[in-house]
Amino acid sequence: PGPRSLLYEGIMLPALVHSRESLRYAQLGFQVRDSDVFSVTYPKSGTTWMQELLTLIHSNGDPQLARSVPSWERVPWLEQTTAAGFLENRPCPRLISSHLPCGLFPTSFHGSNAKVIYTVRNPKDICVSLYYYSKMASFLEFQEDFGEFVELFSAGKVLFGSWFQHVKGWLGLRDRLNFLLLTYEEMHQDLRGSVERICQFLGKPLDARALDGVVENASFQAMKQNKMCNFSLAPRFLLDQTQSSFLRKGITGDWKNQLTTAQSENFDRIYREQMQGLDLSFPWD
Ligand code: PPS
Repeated sequence: PGPRSLLYEGIMLPALVHSRESLRYAQLGFQVRDSDVFSVTYPKSGTTWMQELLTLIHSNGDPQLARSVPSWERVPWLEQTTAAGFLENRPCPRLISSHLPCGLFPTSFHGSNAKVIYTVRNPKDICVSLYYYSKMASFLEFQEDFGEFVELFSAGKVLFGSWFQHVKGWLGLRDRLNFLLLTYEEMHQDLRGSVERICQFLGKPLDARALDGVVENASFQAMKQNKMCNFSLAPRFLLDQTQSSFLRKGITGDWKNQLTTAQSENFDRIYREQMQGLDLSFPWD
């Protein structure tokens, strides 16, 4: 890994907000409560979107909290150095974000009734999104040559390691009652239906008006204007949004504008090798 990264148990993470201690705390020190709700994602899969949705669902569609408190305080990160401060004295139910692979998740999660919502996205779109993010973020390694970047991504030599390992690891839990699998693509196609699925999973039914409030305030346009989630609060020397935007395009299939046919076919071959035997199909398959 480069100077901006930390290598922990073979996984590369941004050193700016992670440390060996914060990762050890997440895995061994953090006490999971049965009422905890985790949003777990590989980077660029819809993390910020899910943070907004969970906030709005818990506020019954009222945007006041989502518009006045930064997303990273409303739905704090489990593995970052700020975790204990944000999470330990928080009232239930705690809404928690994580990019951790399943193997590095808190040991106290297993055997608990805490809920996990795992959001997956087409890895080719993640690759494109991550490329532009790395370009803006001074705290990440950046490989300017996109072809080289696709190779690094395919080989898992990027933050939070291999997409394939992350997804296969978490899908091992998919038969559990406290695990909900969602895709970015289905959220994009039917946000209202996805919110209803989340509400049902959380045991938190919303009436039609509250549901409208959630859907309206979690649209790409609404979120782009919300400075509590569009990262305009991050200083420019860390995240230079003149290079690209954190909420960049918010579409599915943008990979078609970026990957060459050869890059795409090569990725498909690796995808088939890595995902063979998994009896589950995704919207992009
Ligand atoms: S991070 O850094 O891991 O937390 O990034 P993450 O939030 O997972 O991913 C960012 C991408 O999600 C898109 N996004 C959305 N798309 C559609 N609708 C809504 N409301 C929305 N909110 C975030 C965001 O635009 C990034 O994708 P790209 O493809 O780069 O636009």
